[in-house]
Amino acid sequence: MSENFLPFAKPAIDQATIDEVVACLQSGWITTGPRTQQFEQELATYLNSPHALCLNSGTAGLHVALLCLNLQPGDEVITTPFTFVATLNTIVHAGGKPVLVDIDPYTYNIDVNQIENAITSRTRAIVPVHFTGLPVDCDAIYAIANKHQLTVVEDCAHAIGAQYKRKTLGSFGHLQVFSFHPNKNMTTGEGGLVTCRNSEWAERISCLRFHGISKPAFDRFTKKGNQHYEVIAPGFKYNMMDLQAAIGLHQLKSLDNFIIKRTALAQRYLKAFANWPQWELPQIPQYEHRHAWHLFAPLINPEKAGMDRDTFMQRMKEENIGTGLHYAAIHLHPYYKNTFGFKAGDFPRTEDVANRIVSLPLFPTMTNEEQNHVIRTIAKIFNHPLSTESNSLDFLSPINQEIL
Ligand SMILES: Cc1ncc(COP(=O)(O)O)c(C=O)c1O
Repeated sequence: MSENFLPFAKPAIDQATIDEVVACLQSGWITTGPRTQQFEQELATYLNSPHALCLNSGTAGLHVALLCLNLQPGDEVITTPFTFVATLNTIVHAGGKPVLVDIDPYTYNIDVNQIENAITSRTRAIVPVHFTGLPVDCDAIYAIANKHQLTVVEDCAHAIGAQYKRKTLGSFGHLQVFSFHPNKNMTTGEGGLVTCRNSEWAERISCLRFHGISKPAFDRFTKKGNQHYEVIAPGFKYNMMDLQAAIGLHQLKSLDNFIIKRTALAQRYLKAFANWPQWELPQIPQYEHRHAWHLFAPLINPEKAGMDRDTFMQRMKEENIGTGLHYAAIHLHPYYKNTFGFKAGDFPRTEDVANRIVSLPLFPTMTNEEQNHVIRTIAKIFNHPLSTESNSLDFLSPINQEIL
């Protein structure tokens, strides 16, 4: 990456984190152990959940959460075609058939009004995705799930710290899965988390994430441990290392400030781009929520912008600014087309949004100057006059960088 390239996402790693990683390395214990346990306890407290189980990725979390449902051949799981492929791949890994429902035209989350049309006698679960960190209408989704006796596995990969009606995602509902990938709102390098309130599920996940062994592995190597163990299921190697937890412990302390900063940056973009014909800006729903602003992802109006989304991304790259594509419509990937018979035209809103969406740079350590540079560059690319007074962005109040 060139020196002056501005990426669209960047983790914020402070000195305390670096010191903790070094301390972990020097401690003689780098895989799953005391730091992972402490991280799980702190996550359980932050998220107000009785069970918080760390794993080595969000994908692993989705896989084991879905395995709690004991899906049988032909069982169906409803989700959105507008998500990262892990959401659907893990439904397939868990033995389910993904059934897709198009997105809401304003939030780009699954369209709650279309879910019931997709329910059949084989439906077992709904997997909503809190896209960009904007909570889905949880009351509406859980009402449908309760009516039809379905389990809800929330894909919270974008949404740690987000709230629905003053409740943190993870503090209510069935199963929630978070990601700690470096682009996410907090990171452990790679990593994931499942929260739930059901003790049987928690035990199952705890067992499956480490080879199906019935006892926590690290006890075996400590004084209180015992070398004997039993395998009660053909589990996986999905455990989080203490080295990862060492990062996460400090990221969690900063999470609320990260979200405050992300929100301030998103508000600045919204203000800067208000009434630009080239953009359709992110909309927020009526219900009370705290958006985690994992992504700031507007849609391009190609006619007004004079270019399509891919050309815009290319032009940004030429200006040394990174952008992201979240996401291509999943039902149009060859595997999903060939295996489940999806085709172009099946989910028109997703297809339209997937063709026009672009994620602009947004990360907690982004400075006012960096954001102003992004806005000015976009104005140049779109040939959009910034204001009557020269190139001024004075109408955007600067963000207090002391937040972090
Ligand atoms: C919506 C969504 N679901 C699931 C995942 C998987 O998380 P991970 O990368 O931690 O495996 C991601 C991460 O990119 C995601 O964005």
